[in-house]
Amino acid sequence: MTTWRRIRTYTEVMTTTFWPTQEHWSVAIPLHTPHVRLDCLSETGFVALKPAPFDVPAHEWESLEYFDWKSGGDTNFAPLASADGQLDCRGFWDKGKTDKDAEWTSNAALAPTLKNYVSSVGANFGRVRIIKLEPQDRDQAIRSIHRDDNNRFNPENEGWVVRTWLELTDSPDSYMLLMDNGPDGLPDPSTERRVPLSKGARFVVDTQRLWHVVVHNHDFPRYALITSFESGSALDSFIAREHA
Ligand SMILES: [Fe+2]
Repeated sequence: MTTWRRIRTYTEVMTTTFWPTQEHWSVAIPLHTPHVRLDCLSETGFVALKPAPFDVPAHEWESLEYFDWKSGGDTNFAPLASADGQLDCRGFWDKGKTDKDAEWTSNAALAPTLKNYVSSVGANFGRVRIIKLEPQDRDQAIRSIHRDDNNRFNPENEGWVVRTWLELTDSPDSYMLLMDNGPDGLPDPSTERRVPLSKGARFVVDTQRLWHVVVHNHDFPRYALITSFESGSALDSFIAREHA
């Protein structure tokens, strides 16, 4: 290879591959705190659950009110529960709350199966939202890889907030990309996990710990239910019941 060719290849790589650096906002989000945590998440920050044992009628996500809110790609969100019951996608911290003790929004009345499912877990929940994600390949998705700020304002003697997913559309060629932290606090590629996003797939992720983003390799929007739950005995029992 000529020197010219080598330089051109290097330049192409540098302009097409994104990777977070120490300046990424996620690096400043706390990892190690005294909050109550679940043993089942301690090793990898991830637990797969059995596929949902119920069907969700499509109108429960198609008839809701969505908002233009960008998180993890080209996304829109429909809030089912928010800090004060308003149709609002902002973080609970904007209203002085941690991501718990949520109130149902007007969307929830249109999605009784989803509302009952979240209630049936029995744990304190925060934001409950449906995400609508437009297609994005891996190169595009990596630009949005991040960790969540789930525990801002969360008293340190209470439970660590984690998130659960329920896939509403069938996207078997898509996956949630998860990576744990390397010693430098950046995503460690040797810890990569790919969670398939088939219809009914369910899983729990410590998204404040794991870097995450969805690679959506289909030509239609992907919809999923995302719920914040407080770690504690109720969530632990739910996971023990529903563990894959
Ligand atoms: Fe996130």
